Amino acid sequence: MSRAACLLVIISLMSPAAEALDNGLALKPTMGWLHWERFMCNIDCDTDPNNCISEHLYMQMADVMVKEGWKEAGYEYVCIDDCWPSHQRDAQGRLQADPKRFPGGIKKLADYIHSNGLKLGIYADVGDKTCAGYPGSLGYYEKDAQTFADWDVDLLKFDGCFMNRALLGEGYTNMSKALNNTGRPILYSCEWPLYEWPLKQPNYTAIRETCNHWRNFDDVFDSWSSVKSILDWTAAHQDIIVPAAGPGGWNDPDMLVIGNFGLSHNQQESQMALWAIMASPLLMSNDLRDICPRSKELLQNKRIIDISQDSMGKQGYRTAKGNNFEVWERPLSKNRLAVAVLNKLETGGPRGFNIGAAPGWKICGPQCNVTQILPQYKEMGVQTQQSKIIVSVNPSGTALLTVTPISSDFTRLHKLNWQGTFVRRKHTIL
Ligand code: GLA
Repeated sequence: MSRAACLLVIISLMSPAAEALDNGLALKPTMGWLHWERFMCNIDCDTDPNNCISEHLYMQMADVMVKEGWKEAGYEYVCIDDCWPSHQRDAQGRLQADPKRFPGGIKKLADYIHSNGLKLGIYADVGDKTCAGYPGSLGYYEKDAQTFADWDVDLLKFDGCFMNRALLGEGYTNMSKALNNTGRPILYSCEWPLYEWPLKQPNYTAIRETCNHWRNFDDVFDSWSSVKSILDWTAAHQDIIVPAAGPGGWNDPDMLVIGNFGLSHNQQESQMALWAIMASPLLMSNDLRDICPRSKELLQNKRIIDISQDSMGKQGYRTAKGNNFEVWERPLSKNRLAVAVLNKLETGGPRGFNIGAAPGWKICGPQCNVTQILPQYKEMGVQTQQSKIIVSVNPSGTALLTVTPISSDFTRLHKLNWQGTFVRRKHTIL
């Protein structure tokens, strides 16, 4: 067995490599909305009052989340990103919101969000300044943690700009302790590994003990090439990062950009399917006040959200690649499996993929039920080890399926898939 295959077997049998941060939060991947990719650092409320970073934006988003089924679908956190504070701390050295754009202050905003049954996230930086140049938390970790707790904030996204890379670990750990010391449960979203990779391979055991989720790679943009680059990075590093994920701590491949301008509908389906397979936080960055019904339906698709939020909390990973197809699999509770087949060929029409055809890989044994979720819902019925299922996958789209064993014999689907044969075989996929 090759080293890579060996590792995958180990991953499949292992619980997450380390203890998660013990704050009782993020037992399932976080769901919510985060302003950055869609609204960026738009602080021009004079000419663009509807879209600038102001208390109105988060209040409106919260209203829509309640009214339009987002909250009911599981999206819970309304998160502020960069550019919210004033450029000066107050006389006591505390961060303060920009008074013009947040006249009520963050505490009032938190009260409003809570009165809607939602939670509020805020943003700060481990270094001297935030990435957009607002005051950083270096030298103020306790003070800032206490300020966020006093404001009843529920999540902190802690960025890593303007920080000595050698001190990242110390900084992220100290802020984690400071948040815990406030006594308020504040979900801690880190970017520690992203900033550390250029220096050395991050210590994911320490990261999992410190953070509830962590960014590993570049910011997502509103484009298919950006989403693809995130998938490629994740697959290339899966032996290192997948074992770190589990209830309480997750790899964060960045926001969902579904419902914006850059992705075709098939590409949006691919992002949604693969983010569910990767057990990623589902933090949408889009304009919920104005979103096309198809994107909304996709983001609220219960069957995909169920995969994302599966109680076993294991992250899936890429198990095969060839002929411009990729197969990603995620083990689910009750011995079920989610399978995503991504067609990376960006030309031509739909291509058939035979998911039972790989040597050493059977859909199930002796019997299972197969359900197709994307591109459309379809019960594919009872299948056996002899079954051949051909799914049709659109260019840059994804077919998403679940496989549910129906035998008392309980053949271990996951072991079967992760013996390595499928991963190592030559990719004559069709
Ligand atoms: C970094 C982060 C982004 C966003 C911006 C804000 O680039 O990775 O997610 O928070 O900073 O300036």
